[in-house]
Amino acid sequence: MADEYLGPRHGPLYNMSALGFTPGEMVVVTGAASGIGKATALCAAKAGLAVAAWDMDGPGAQATVDEITSGGGQAYAITVDVFDNAQVDRAWQETLAHGPCLYLVNNAGPRSVSQGPFTGHLLDAVGSMEAVATRWLDHCGDVASSLVNISSIAGNLQGSGKTVSAFYPAAKAGIAGLTRHLATKFDGRPRANAVAPGITITPRIEPMLASPAMQDLAARVPVGRLGFPEDMAHAVLFLLSPAAAYINGVVLPVDGGVTLN
Ligand SMILES: NC(=O)c1ccc[n+]([C@@H]2O[C@H](COP(=O)([O-])OP(=O)(O)OC[C@H]3O[C@@H](n4cnc5c(N)ncnc54)[C@H](O)[C@@H]3O)[C@@H](O)[C@H]2O)c1
Repeated sequence: MADEYLGPRHGPLYNMSALGFTPGEMVVVTGAASGIGKATALCAAKAGLAVAAWDMDGPGAQATVDEITSGGGQAYAITVDVFDNAQVDRAWQETLAHGPCLYLVNNAGPRSVSQGPFTGHLLDAVGSMEAVATRWLDHCGDVASSLVNISSIAGNLQGSGKTVSAFYPAAKAGIAGLTRHLATKFDGRPRANAVAPGITITPRIEPMLASPAMQDLAARVPVGRLGFPEDMAHAVLFLLSPAAAYINGVVLPVDGGVTLN
């Protein structure tokens, strides 16, 4: 069924199988070589978007691109360390050479168990998302664009004592604040929302899956399992899409309800 309007006091009624996206529109997904970013890139391609797969792992980004293009989709691999502003500038130039970019998923971030200087990791985690987003805004102008930042339930939804490094909950709470800032600063262009994943089975989590702490966490999830990267990707794509046109500035927990316990 085509998108339609029911009358003057109505918005567009989208064909929800496409979420209102126009095929060929471009999305940048950072950290697209693995885990949540990879699932989001593949999901975006299934929704008809052209994907710019950004990652510091160039061969990994290329593998995601190959998976998309072998299925008939459109994708470009961009090798970039998003913690380095000069590389971010270059990555935007490379990306925009393929056409305008309407959508951004800020997903890459330091590992939650990373040790080392608090301020450095905080800057990497929050500063990189701010840098990627503001440089994008410089280019994308006054169009109906949207972005989704990946926060975490460790940010402002989960209690203390559940995280290893102090920077991680601080950074993820910071990303929630950054999201609300971006959602309102430019009169809703772009819309900005965040997804706060619960524990999600990705390569960075897999080595810890067998630990008693992780087993305990899994047992407390009301839906009875840990998250899959695809659970996060579906939520990201919805918030990103025109179908979510009236959702702006939210931090959506995607955690099977674990933060209610
Ligand atoms: N897995 C979880 O349980 C979980 C829970 C909450 C939030 N998150 C968040 O989700 C995001 C993705 O996590 P994941 O579990 O999918 O991780 P992952 O390790 O599977 O994938 C992360 C990807 O990001 C890339 N990356 C890391 N730093 C980068 C940089 N500086 N520049 C470019 N690329 C970089 C890596 O190369 C990798 O491909 C992170 O922001 C993480 O904090 C994850």
